Amino acid sequence: MARIVGGITTSHIPAIGNAIAREMFEDPYWKPFFDAYPPVRAWLDEVKPDVAIVVYNDHGLNFFLDKMPTFSVGAAPEYQNKDEGWGLQPLPPYPGDPELSWHIINSVVAEDFDLCTCQEMAVDHGFTVPMSLLWPDRAKMGGLKTIPLVVNTVQHPLPSPARCFKLGQALGRAVESFDKDLKVVVIGTGGLSHQLDGERAGFINKNFDLMCLEKIVDDPEALTKYSIHDLVRLAGAQGAELILWLVMRGALTGTVSKLHSNYHIPISNTGAGLLLLENAA
Ligand code: DHB
Ligand code: FE
Repeated sequence: MARIVGGITTSHIPAIGNAIAREMFEDPYWKPFFDAYPPVRAWLDEVKPDVAIVVYNDHGLNFFLDKMPTFSVGAAPEYQNKDEGWGLQPLPPYPGDPELSWHIINSVVAEDFDLCTCQEMAVDHGFTVPMSLLWPDRAKMGGLKTIPLVVNTVQHPLPSPARCFKLGQALGRAVESFDKDLKVVVIGTGGLSHQLDGERAGFINKNFDLMCLEKIVDDPEALTKYSIHDLVRLAGAQGAELILWLVMRGALTGTVSKLHSNYHIPISNTGAGLLLLENAA
């Protein structure tokens, strides 16, 4: 049976992709951010997951404001980077796992989650930046396959934190009923507090972010009590990306323990939170 071995949360800010491309790891602005990642990479090196499910929001690449599915799952043989926001990074495609994708789709649809199924899907910074942060050396990905799970955080109405947590729980059950011995890691991307536009552009709420980093480990249900409106007020318009973290956390159905965490502000306009959670059987 497949098993979810852990969950990771990380920011997906596009500027990080550029900083990686320019190797700005020792730059004083970037160093405290990049320095937080080696322990997570060491864990990935040791555990060697077979599949990474990357929970992110499409920022207008596959879905624009004219057509916006709430939840979408990739079922493609590979995923190509087409994020041009900060200049297209020439990244090799990410291998998919259509068989596991379809198992997940069938399982969560049977649990009444209505998904958009994507047999072709391009990926943007929401997906590529976390992948570049976690596997900067492609050789260390080995045979790692990827499955994009896209949640609408762009066009209201957005799915509630409670709904996203429940989707994560259904995702966890789906993976753990897959009849192959695979180690799966679930990555919740984006967040924490940030607002990119409007009167409150640049808004960051450190206290709220630190509370989220704590609660998501042992008491994620506390975070499911917030409405989307609460998240926008407390964490900024784009801080609602916390729902991506809640999908990840819902999928961890075993005994969860925190192995590593970091919080750094600001990176670009954002409170950047990193968490590594082990999910013991
Ligand atoms: C930024 C953050 C995001 O989550 C995003 O999708 C784009 C930009 C930022 O802080 O620059
Ligand atoms: Fe984002």
